[in-house]
Amino acid sequence: MKLLDFRSDTVTRPSAGMLEAMFSAKLGDDVFGDDPSINELESYAAAMFGKENAIFCSSGTMTNQIAIKVHTKPGDEVICDKLSHIYHYEGGGIAFNSGSSVRLIDGDRGRFTAEDVQRNINPDDIHHPITALVSLENTCNKGGGAIWDANAIESIKNLCNENNLPLHLDGARVFNAMAETGQSAEDVGRQFDTISICLSKGLGCPVGSLLIGDTDFIKKSRRVRKVFGGGMRQAGILAAAGTYALKQNIDRLELDHENAQCISNILLNQRWIESVVEVSTNIVVGNLKKVDDQSQIIEKLKELGVLCIGFGEGRIRFVTHLDISTEDINRCEDILKKI
Ligand SMILES: Cc1ncc(COP(=O)(O)O)c(C=O)c1O
Repeated sequence: MKLLDFRSDTVTRPSAGMLEAMFSAKLGDDVFGDDPSINELESYAAAMFGKENAIFCSSGTMTNQIAIKVHTKPGDEVICDKLSHIYHYEGGGIAFNSGSSVRLIDGDRGRFTAEDVQRNINPDDIHHPITALVSLENTCNKGGGAIWDANAIESIKNLCNENNLPLHLDGARVFNAMAETGQSAEDVGRQFDTISICLSKGLGCPVGSLLIGDTDFIKKSRRVRKVFGGGMRQAGILAAAGTYALKQNIDRLELDHENAQCISNILLNQRWIESVVEVSTNIVVGNLKKVDDQSQIIEKLKELGVLCIGFGEGRIRFVTHLDISTEDINRCEDILKKI
């Protein structure tokens, strides 16, 4: 019986169409700049967001870390939310790679306001680190897939412009946000200086992320990617999956969101669930009645064929994705009832 794997939207396997695109990809050595499939993907993604250029990397951690490295110098400071992936889940990379400190905002499910940013920009005073970058995450993973309000981002962008600060988007799941807000990629492109998108999450690729920005920024990013050991050779085989995903797998994301809503409703009917964080996109976070039951419940679900993860004290997370169908949701309901 198929395991129902809700641990993350990264667990998908490439579809037959994607594999076909990968097998027929034209390849070259990308460190020499001559892999046609990578060049095609980078141009396609840049044009999509109305930007000049893009660089293909192995992971979202790498694209975020390259962006931070290019935007900052040692001793600078990065403003982001306390729940942000760049702070929580990138191994202390901001300090390790860029020698920058982090100024955390205590936002709402990962989202903050221009006023919050204003309060956290350091004055020009030798005692303080130099505020060099503002970064936000849309959707916010640790905020349960929360979506940013486009006007809030606009205000932050205006403030950044006034203060000569670049604005970076960790858009690992920005297509999930766009599916709900109706914003276009070009709308998003106008609001940020640099954008990281992940191909290996909701879009179903086995590997890959893109960092998108202007020509000068991407030129600097290519140098940093090389230093990070991220220069790849015939990686067009992966890029072909990316181009396929950008063309084929964006429109269906709403289905993942509907499935996530179903999971939320199912969870709310279980006596061991206290509450569920309001579902905005494809991430469902349930609060358990008994905090101490967390590992036991995850283990029991695993035995019955449903995989999910712990997401902080007394919380479990389910993520819907390309490899979860409506029938899988029905099966999941039957299994959850057995706990
Ligand atoms: C919001 C966010 N940003 C960045 C990443 C990093 O992506 P990767 O796992 O490809 O390094 C993730 C991964 O889960 C994420 O959720």
